Amino acid sequence: MPLSDADQALLLRAVALAEQSIGLSDPNPRVGCVLHTAGGQLAGEGFTQQAGGPHAEVMALRAAAAQGAPLAGGTAWVSLEPCAHHGRTPPCADALIAAGLSRVVVALGDPYPQVAGRGVQRLRAAGITVDVAGAGPARQAAQALNIGFLSRVLRGRPWLRLKVAASLDGRTALPDGRSQWITGPAARQDGHAWRRRAGAVLTGIGTVLADDPRLDVRLVPTQLQPLRVVVDSAFATPPAARLLQEPGRVLVVGAQDQPARMASLRAAGAEVLLLPGADGRVDLPQLLQRLAANGVGELHVEAGAVLMRRSLAPTWSTSCWSTPRPGCWVRAGAWLRCQNCPRWMRPWASTSRIANASAPTCGCWCGGRVPTPSCTARHLPPWPDGRPALHHPAAAAQRPPAQPG
Ligand SMILES: NC(=O)c1ccc[n+]([C@@H]2O[C@H](COP(=O)([O-])OP(=O)(O)OC[C@H]3O[C@@H](n4cnc5c(N)ncnc54)[C@H](OP(=O)(O)O)[C@@H]3O)[C@@H](O)[C@H]2O)c1
Repeated sequence: MPLSDADQALLLRAVALAEQSIGLSDPNPRVGCVLHTAGGQLAGEGFTQQAGGPHAEVMALRAAAAQGAPLAGGTAWVSLEPCAHHGRTPPCADALIAAGLSRVVVALGDPYPQVAGRGVQRLRAAGITVDVAGAGPARQAAQALNIGFLSRVLRGRPWLRLKVAASLDGRTALPDGRSQWITGPAARQDGHAWRRRAGAVLTGIGTVLADDPRLDVRLVPTQLQPLRVVVDSAFATPPAARLLQEPGRVLVVGAQDQPARMASLRAAGAEVLLLPGADGRVDLPQLLQRLAANGVGELHVEAGAVLMRRSLAPTWSTSCWSTPRPGCWVRAGAWLRCQNCPRWMRPWASTSRIANASAPTCGCWCGGRVPTPSCTARHLPPWPDGRPALHHPAAAAQRPPAQPG
């Protein structure tokens, strides 16, 4: 039987609580829990803490106990099936049973082999009514929030997210080659929020040598720093690279045995791993498996064209392109189309920064409309050497008019 709207709403509340586990609970899933008394009063809420710490159900039970709220005959709404095994903490199913609840509503089953239906069975065996959402917004939201955990448990590899910092017209650098910063502060903060979700941030040696990035999470608060991974066949990462000066783990993965370079990277604090592939470069499928086996659910990639476009994007399509935001640069002469507007527009000032949606720095042919955060470059002229420009995948079928209308 489908869940009621009230159940869906409380499950969505549990998912909203679970969002607070981002940057905290990895590699454990992000879970939230809401408890009501038998009379329908809110008794307690909680979300999963750091690995080894209490899960969402235990946090909610503690909150209820702190308030003195009676739970006998009450109901729990949880965004993921309660665990049934002794891991680093005792089974949450047992804690819910001990609290005397009469009903548990679950947004999503947990595919983790040691749970996988056993949590629900254990609750039912204790006489508790258990309803699991077969579909609906709460189930979808719980899935989306745990996409990395689900990918590593079900597929044995992380959920891959390819992030591209792009100008409004879809370029990854200005005509003079500058790429820092072609995006504005809002886009960079957004980028750090995506890094925070990830168990690891991956880049290539080309980017390390060109940009010397730190790849940590600085612009949004976090309790955890993702593992930073450099794909670097010859272990050419300089030991003085900035990513090695920041706190947190760095893994340099190579394909050639270079004892001296590997030793200096280790001395600089990096972990090193040799994973040669058939082409003499790093074996990327092997690397993904290793990362998943080590608890990396979401893998956030910030690399250059070689790694992104030639190696990762054609093989694994689970990508997410960063949408240009106000504050990004745009080239003069590029065609842009607003998603809210059927007409094309073309900045005619020189290369300029779109300061914000209400203060255009470009003229356009669509009745004074200006690019908004939802604008996406729809048609991109090829590079002078004929290579297609990087573009939003949805734009492929779109073409601008021959002449502005
Ligand atoms: N706009 C953006 O979002 C953005 C983001 C990052 C970087 N960038 C720009 O991109 C430029 C650097 O790009 P890039 O393409 O030269 O470097 P990259 O993609 O960061 O790194 C590519 C390098 O990774 C190494 N590699 C090892 N195993 C590999 C494998 N299996 N497949 C592919 N590569 C492998 C290769 O060097 P070895 O074989 O020597 O190991 C390869 O040259 C910089 O100018 C930077 O500013 C832009």
